[in-house]
Amino acid sequence: MDMIDEIKKWKKEKNAVILAHYYVNPEVQQIADYIGDSFYLSKVAVGLKEQTIVFCGVAFMGESAKILNLDKTVLMPDKSADCAMAHMADAQTIQKMRDTYEDLAVVCYINSTAELKRHSDVCVTSANAVQIVKALPNKHIFFIPDKNLARYVAQQVPEKEFVFNQGYCPVHEHMKLREVKRVKELHPEAEILTHPECPEAICEISDYIGSTSGIISYATQSPKKEFIICTENGVRYELEMRNPDKQFYFTETEPVCMDMKKITLEKVLHVLKTGENEVHVTEKVREESGKALERMLELAK
Ligand code: 13P
Ligand code: SF4
Repeated sequence: MDMIDEIKKWKKEKNAVILAHYYVNPEVQQIADYIGDSFYLSKVAVGLKEQTIVFCGVAFMGESAKILNLDKTVLMPDKSADCAMAHMADAQTIQKMRDTYEDLAVVCYINSTAELKRHSDVCVTSANAVQIVKALPNKHIFFIPDKNLARYVAQQVPEKEFVFNQGYCPVHEHMKLREVKRVKELHPEAEILTHPECPEAICEISDYIGSTSGIISYATQSPKKEFIICTENGVRYELEMRNPDKQFYFTETEPVCMDMKKITLEKVLHVLKTGENEVHVTEKVREESGKALERMLELAK
């Protein structure tokens, strides 16, 4: 039996479902029941009929799925797969901001630890951040952890006053403007599609800014044939599958999230067979960080 058949067999045996983010390896995306961006996956994770969720992504994704489904078993193919940005804020600074601004809303990008969510008023993803911040009654917004997404949202919602945190996604932050410009010189007809985790200089020369799903939808609907993609290279699989007649270019230094790439078919099979790497959260964490996640799902409806 080959590995894919074995995964299917164990999935049935364990009453399991596989969720995968667009940034994981293509062969892992191929065996997933649901593939998407962080927002899509957090919505899908609620109300699944299967008892076990195998989450092909990084720690905060599995943790959020568990927080939203305490009665389910959530398994991570690689427990060390983590998001560096998820840790780039702290509870003391949040408290300091709350003491400074009376009407502050702490808005927490879902790419964050459960501990940070616990101290926040609402979670957002890159797909719904603008909509949710607009819907909040508060004038002052402390946006954690990502300074780049915060800046992008602040530009879209000028009626609010933002307090910025200094976190960032190393994969997007280190993309180079000169490399993007170089691809544009080589392909002048190509549109530049950018994730809001990218630095401002790249956003400024972009034709479209949006989440990974937004980028995929934009490219799919566009009559253009060439695109420069400024996000992690895992999206190439879905882009090419949906658009076999279009060309997708990345910068010379391809943006790769090494943590997302830790997920392999072997590891998916291993956790399905053994039940290892289960995500655990305490009832207290669930209750407190669950509020911010549930508020996101409510406001994004
Ligand atoms: P989205 O899934 O919201 O596009 O975010 C990208 C990302 O960095 C996930 O880790
Ligand atoms: Fe975190 Fe960036 Fe990797 Fe996404 S791409 S998981 S934000 S380090």
